Formats: sequence, C-alpha cells, structure tokens
Amino acid sequence: MTMMNAAVVTSFTEPPHYQPFEAPAPSGGEVLVDVLAAGLHPRVRSGAAGQHYTSSGTLPMIPGVDGVGQLPDGRLVYFAAGDDVPGTMADKALVDPRRSVELPAGADVAKVAAAMNPAMSSWVALRRRVPMKPGQGVLVLGATGNAGAMAVQVARRLGAGRVVGAGRDPGRLRALLPAGADDVVQLTGDAGATGDALAAAAAEVDIVLDYLWGGPAQRAITALLTARSDRSRALDWIQIGAVAGPAIELPSAALRSANFRLQGSGQGSVSPRGYLAELPALIGEISAGTIRVQPNVVPLADVERAWTSEETPGERTVLVP
Ligand SMILES: NC(=O)c1ccc[n+]([C@@H]2O[C@H](COP(=O)([O-])OP(=O)(O)OC[C@H]3O[C@@H](n4cnc5c(N)ncnc54)[C@H](OP(=O)(O)O)[C@@H]3O)[C@@H](O)[C@H]2O)c1
Repeated sequence: MTMMNAAVVTSFTEPPHYQPFEAPAPSGGEVLVDVLAAGLHPRVRSGAAGQHYTSSGTLPMIPGVDGVGQLPDGRLVYFAAGDDVPGTMADKALVDPRRSVELPAGADVAKVAAAMNPAMSSWVALRRRVPMKPGQGVLVLGATGNAGAMAVQVARRLGAGRVVGAGRDPGRLRALLPAGADDVVQLTGDAGATGDALAAAAAEVDIVLDYLWGGPAQRAITALLTARSDRSRALDWIQIGAVAGPAIELPSAALRSANFRLQGSGQGSVSPRGYLAELPALIGEISAGTIRVQPNVVPLADVERAWTSEETPGERTVLVP
C-alpha cells in the first residue's frame, strides 16, 4: 500500500484534516498524477459538507473536483475528478484522460486551477446550454463573486452586445465596468427600487446567467418580464448557482405571458464530453489573461486554516501539495 498526504474529510461538520491516506491505484486507463494545484471552489465546500446534489454521503472522503497535475511523462494537465474516485486535494490523484487536457507551454498552474471552475460555469452555459448569438444582451445576476465577475468577461469575449452585472457589493460592481460590463445594478434591501433598476438596465436582454436563485432571482424574473417591450421575444434564463437560496416560487403567468425559457447549467445537464470539448479554448483564454483571476496560493498542509478563513473577495484559494 502506498501512502500520500491529503485533505481528509472525516465528518461533514468539520473542515478536512491534513493526514496520511492511501494513494489511489489506477485502473481501466486511469493515470496517477502528482497534483500541483487544486481550487477551493464553493462546489468543493458543498461536497465536503455532504450537501452537493452529487454527494454520496460516504466518509472518509478527499474533497476537490478539479486541479492541475503532472503526468508521469512530465506533461501538465488540467483535469476534472471522476465522480467515483478520491478528490484532488492530495499529493496524488487519478486522472481519466477523457476528462483532462494538456496545458499550453508557460501556463500559470495556480491561475488555471483557480479559474477553470468559476469560468466554465458561464462559458459552458453560453456555448452549450443557450449558444449565444453575437450581439445578444446578457444580464449576470450575482456578478460580484468569482464566477459572476468572470461571466461578465466571458459574455463579452463570446460576443455579447450588451452586458449588465447585478450584485450586492458596490465596490466589486464598479470593478466590473472596466472588465467589460456596460452597466451595473446594485441589489439592495429595497425590492421595489432594485426591481426598477433591473428593469431599466436589463429588461431587453436575451439571456440571464443566474448565480443567485432564491428571492433575488424570483423578484428579478417578475421585474424583467413586466418591463419587457416585446414579451414574445425569448428570454433565456440559465440557472447556475444558488447562493441566495435553493428554491423560488414561480408564478405560472410568467411562463404563459412571456416567452420565458428556464433551464440550468451544470454537471448533469451538460455531459462530461460537452465539458471536455470546451476546456482547451477556455484554458487558452485564462492563459492569455482575457479572463482574469487572482489565486490565493496556500500549502495543502494548511487546508484546515484555508477552509475556515474567509476568502478575500475577488480571490480564489488554491491548495498546493
Ligand atoms: N453550475 C455550474 O457550472 C457552476 C460552476 C461554478 C460555480 N457555480 C456556483 O456559482 C455560485 C458562485 O460561485 P463563485 O465561485 O462565484 O463563488 P464566490 O466567489 O464565493 O462568490 C459568491 C458571491 O455571491 C454573492 N452573494 C452571496 N449571497 C448573496 C445574496 N444573497 N445576494 C446576492 N449576492 C450574494 C457574494 O457577493 P456579495 O457579497 O458582493 O453579494 C459572493 O461574492 C456558487 O453557488 C457555485 O456553486 C456553479
């Protein structure tokens, strides 16, 4: 038995502990890589808390859904972990070559590990779920987090004609303007004023990338559909994250009185093959700096501290074995 060091979740109510763990053994075409960096994404936290919709509930487990690793022949790859293998927050991880892609020479390992998960959320949504046509208008609901801020840049890069970012934090909202947003809307506790501001800035968009769900999304649906000049023109709402709540109440009239099309984007609604096909282009954008990211690099041995300390807004923690 070969041992390695890993972040190990032994209870869904505690952070992972850095401890020895049996290294996984490759089978059926898998390759064992040396992990170089793995991002601490919200999806990783929810998996480690047993709360993600893909969670099996089995403990102990190693968290981590993706990362950058070095193959035995020295090449570097970005890879997504399989559903039934240990996670990526360890010295070593199993890579299915069908879920990995080689990094271009000179790629920044920490930036790729930090950006792929949040950037992929909008990239895949706008290319695989609702292929965006050049010139279309996009509202990013929840644009102040990592994924939302990248969604503004992705929408612009993929040819959006108008991009509006909506979120709570005024400073992070202002930063979206030089990053590609045409307009920003602050979501405040005043539901009426927020609805009016959303309607004024985004009633005519074609696509909404929704990272919030919950009350803010519910109110935004009504505000946009009510203010839309032509309700028979399609409004594609893509549900991606749920930081503001797991459920909404959707009036049936919203679906009858407007051409409102609601769908989600994530693991399951997009196939592994669909994700893989998008990886090379997205890695190229991140490496070229078109999609900006600020990694906060932390040694894997400090995983407990990283887990419990608050992330600086705009940064994504990356654990390095
Ligand atoms: N489906 C997919 O493919 C996919 C992929 C990646 C991520 N996601 C999901 O997308 C979401 C965001 O991920 P992330 O990486 O951007 O996380 P993040 O960097 O932690 O950002 C989350 C942001 O949400 C904002 N927020 C929290 N509660 C809010 C509320 N009640 N109203 C408005 N804004 C609120 C916060 O900004 P303020 O404090 O400024 O409001 C925070 O910066 C997560 O749910 C994640 O699981 C989905």
